[in-house]
Amino acid sequence: MDYSKSWPNLNESQIMLMDQIHQFAQEVVAPVASHHDQTGEFPTANIKQMGEMGLMGMMVDEKWGGAGLDTVTYAMAMEAISAACASTGVIMSVNNSLVCAPINAYGNDLQKEKYLRPLASGQKLGCFALSEPGHGSDPAGLKCRFEKVPGGYKINGSKNWITNGREADYCILFASVNPDLRHKGISAFIVDTKLKGFSVNKLEDKLGITASSTASLFFDDVIVPDECILGKEGDGFKIAMNTLDGGRIGIASQALGIAMCATEASKKFAMEREQFGAPIAKLQAIQFYIAEMTTRLQASRLLTWFAAQRKDQGLPYVREAAMAKLAAAEASMWIATKAIQVHGGYGYTKEYVVERNFRDAKITEIYEGTSEIQKIVIAASELTKK
Ligand code: CAA
Repeated sequence: MDYSKSWPNLNESQIMLMDQIHQFAQEVVAPVASHHDQTGEFPTANIKQMGEMGLMGMMVDEKWGGAGLDTVTYAMAMEAISAACASTGVIMSVNNSLVCAPINAYGNDLQKEKYLRPLASGQKLGCFALSEPGHGSDPAGLKCRFEKVPGGYKINGSKNWITNGREADYCILFASVNPDLRHKGISAFIVDTKLKGFSVNKLEDKLGITASSTASLFFDDVIVPDECILGKEGDGFKIAMNTLDGGRIGIASQALGIAMCATEASKKFAMEREQFGAPIAKLQAIQFYIAEMTTRLQASRLLTWFAAQRKDQGLPYVREAAMAKLAAAEASMWIATKAIQVHGGYGYTKEYVVERNFRDAKITEIYEGTSEIQKIVIAASELTKK
């Protein structure tokens, strides 16, 4: 892909790095994506190599084991990896956006040394445990409890739909001192998943992103040492919301990657497949699909990179990240649906990548805030007196 055509402000080093990442994604990740999709096998080898390449802690300072890159580069890398394998994309996104980012932003030096360094350098993997069986879109009322005990905090409760839950070495956990306090009662903790009382129970059997784990986590009298509280007591909800703002740029980029894969596959198919004595690319119906797919893809890419650029510039980006996630997720689902239409009967079979794209795209409209939640965030920003 020619990245310089998509965004006017890319510098030489971003373009060179993206060429390398794109090449890795296409030569190493893409060839095994179908195998991982069909077997549900976690892409361990690729994640390890991505750690060595600096892709698991892209925006973390080199001082703490990261790659020290900007959010625009992260968004481009997420798109390239997700175009090859969306399961690998979400594993990368959670570790970067939802685990490294909050420790980077709210952790003290001790936490950065002990937890961020191995996470950012890809030696360890993390998960983000906010959602619960009764609290998905409304995390302020979460029920997982903590109580202060000498030397630490005792945690009891359960978490649901946790990406990387089965493999995670560390978990960013949100728990409440008293659910009646709603968001004001929530604190964030870094939990070592080897601690006594922690267990992973149910693994979800999913429609798409099948090679990433989605797990239920249980905390049964888990004692977390004092040093593991992230930020101050009561800061948890704001840490979660702020983290999800960044996460939404990552998932928007994952959605773009899925959409890019479906669009490229459709272009190739349209030029090769012949009906009525000529390639179907000659048919205006197909041309219109391709034109609209590429336009929706580029429009949502610009929104995503705009949100990323604002984050890099230290400007507010809550509304822009929500717009990016909303637009990219819906574009991805639309594009994947039309990609199957372009492929006809072939697109409905597992032989063609668009079948996987269609299943993978759907989740981008759901996790890290559904499309409806993004609309709530955008409307709240538009309808507030400035
Ligand atoms: N940044 C910082 N603070 C924020 C914030 C933000 N983006 N959004 C809200 N807050 C603050 C508010 O200022 C307010 O603070 P004060 O009490 O000091 O005024 C406080 O948080 C409460 O705000 P609201 O009353 O607006 O909160 P709410 O309960 O109405 O919720 C919501 C707002 C936007 C709907 C929020 O609940 C939300 O984003 N829900 C979706 C949750 C979500 O995305 N879950 C995804 C799970 S993670 C996942 O999917 C990961 C995975 O594995 C891939």
